[in-house]
Formats: sequence, C-alpha cells, structure tokens
Amino acid sequence: MRTLRTIRALREALDPNRRVGLVPTMGAFHDGHLSLFRAARGETDVVVVSLFLNPAQFGANEDLVSYPSDTAGDARLAAEAGVDFLFTPDVGEMYPAGFGTWIDVGETGAEGAARPGHFRGVATVCLKLFNIVRPSVVFFGQKDAQQAAVLRRMIRDLDLDVELRVLPTVRDSDGLAFSSRNAYLSPGEREQALALPRALEAGRSAHLRGADPVSATRAALNGLEPDYVELVDLDGATVLAAAARVGSTRLIDNVVLEGEL
Ligand code: PAJ
Repeated sequence: MRTLRTIRALREALDPNRRVGLVPTMGAFHDGHLSLFRAARGETDVVVVSLFLNPAQFGANEDLVSYPSDTAGDARLAAEAGVDFLFTPDVGEMYPAGFGTWIDVGETGAEGAARPGHFRGVATVCLKLFNIVRPSVVFFGQKDAQQAAVLRRMIRDLDLDVELRVLPTVRDSDGLAFSSRNAYLSPGEREQALALPRALEAGRSAHLRGADPVSATRAALNGLEPDYVELVDLDGATVLAAAARVGSTRLIDNVVLEGEL
C-alpha cells in the first residue's frame, strides 16, 4: 500500500484504464470501515481509501478537535485489508486559500436539521474526492443512511458517472454499531448506549406487527434523550433512524424497515 498526501501524486499513481473503488473516510478505522475496504477489494481492481478529517462538515460546537486519530494504526489496518492507496491530504490541499465553491444539498431530513451545514460539507468533500480519484464505484455504510441518500441524489442530480454502493451496518457483539465516536464512551456510557440499537429493534418489531415504529422506539430508549426518531424514505427504502446523546457523545443508528438501500 502507498500513502499519498497530494492530489497530484494520487492522480499520477492511478491508471485511468483500471476500475477504481473509492472509500471516503475520516479515519479511526473500525470493523465498519474495514467491511467497506474489503467490499471494494472484492469488486474493483484498485482500492483507494481517503482519510481526511473534513472540517467543513463539523459545526462550531462539534468534535472536530477531539475526533479520534491514529494515522499509523489506520495505515496498518488498511494495508491488511488490501487497500492499494491511502490518500491523506491536509486541509490546505483540499481547501486551498480562496476556496469558495460549495454543494447546495436539498432536503436532508432530521439529521440534516440537527446538523446545519453538515451535509453541505460532506457533499462538497465527496464531490472533490470523486473528481480527484475518478472511481467507478464508491462505497458507503448504511450506518450513515442519510449521508448515502444525499450523495446518491448528488450523483443523480449532477450526472456523475459513478456507482454508489451502500453496505450493511457492522455491529459489535453487543449490538452497538461500530463508530469512531464510540471511543468517547466510558464503560458505563457504553452500556447505556446499547439502548439505541435495542430501541430501534423494538421499533422494527412493532412495525412487523403493524404498530407505530417511532413511538415503540421512543418508548424503548430507556432514558436516552433522542435528538430525533424518524422514518426516512431513502430511494424507496423505508429506514427507521435515530440520534441520541449519551453523556456528551452523539450517536446515530438506523434499521431498514422496507426495501433495500
Ligand atoms: P466516517 O465516519 O469515517 O465513515 C466512513 C464510512 O464508513 C461511511 O460510509 C460510513 O457510513 C461507514 N461506516 C461507519 N460506521 C460503520 C458501520 N458500523 N458499519 C458500516 N459502515 C460504517 O462518513 C464519513 O466518515 C464522512 O462523512 C465522509 C463520507 C468520509 C466525508 O467526510
């Protein structure tokens, strides 16, 4: 695996005649990230992973400064998963002086409402990465279902020649979805956090027996304060999504009720 820091070096290293898979990330790799790397390895000839903590998608009071980072450990994990190129630009490389063009995303659901400007930052950095790498396929996780939906719409609206694959959420043995932010949780908080996936499961069961999944999820949150619990229509699939705070950590999770992402 080669680690490259500049757009120019990455472009020079990539063969335009080969089928490239891209997995955009912000680092602090866990099994969710690794599942995307392996999927890309299985489907494409050249696997590029970008590792860029994108300041543009963090709000002023969010965790940009404390976001977990372990570039050396990440490089090891990526190499083991068969990644060919790890792209680690710095902020000046992605947003040079004078940068001023942004993707204006449309409706972004409750997650977008809870994080103003977040999906604008996500869409802009992803479009830049798609243009830099020119992948045939890009890989995203269902864990961030609204993100995948925003990017699918961007690809469609702007006629980008790329396929977006959404892969299932990978969970720890206790059911908690892997997230770089889980590193913030104390052991006690981690135990409390399990209420989120359990409540979503309760919502799914309710839906299966014809009851209201949103109120069933809310009722099963076991004291966790939700930012929102909502049904989202993502490209024809119905997803039950929720965000909740555990101490100062904000976690999101979702389950698919109908259809496929
Ligand atoms: P990050 O949070 O690092 O996530 C990178 C990718 O991993 C995303 O597609 C996310 O949905 C996926 N992922 C995270 N947890 C997962 C899990 N438990 N199971 C499966 N997939 C999981 O999402 C971002 O970075 C950024 O917004 C980014 C797209 C890189 C733009 O900056």
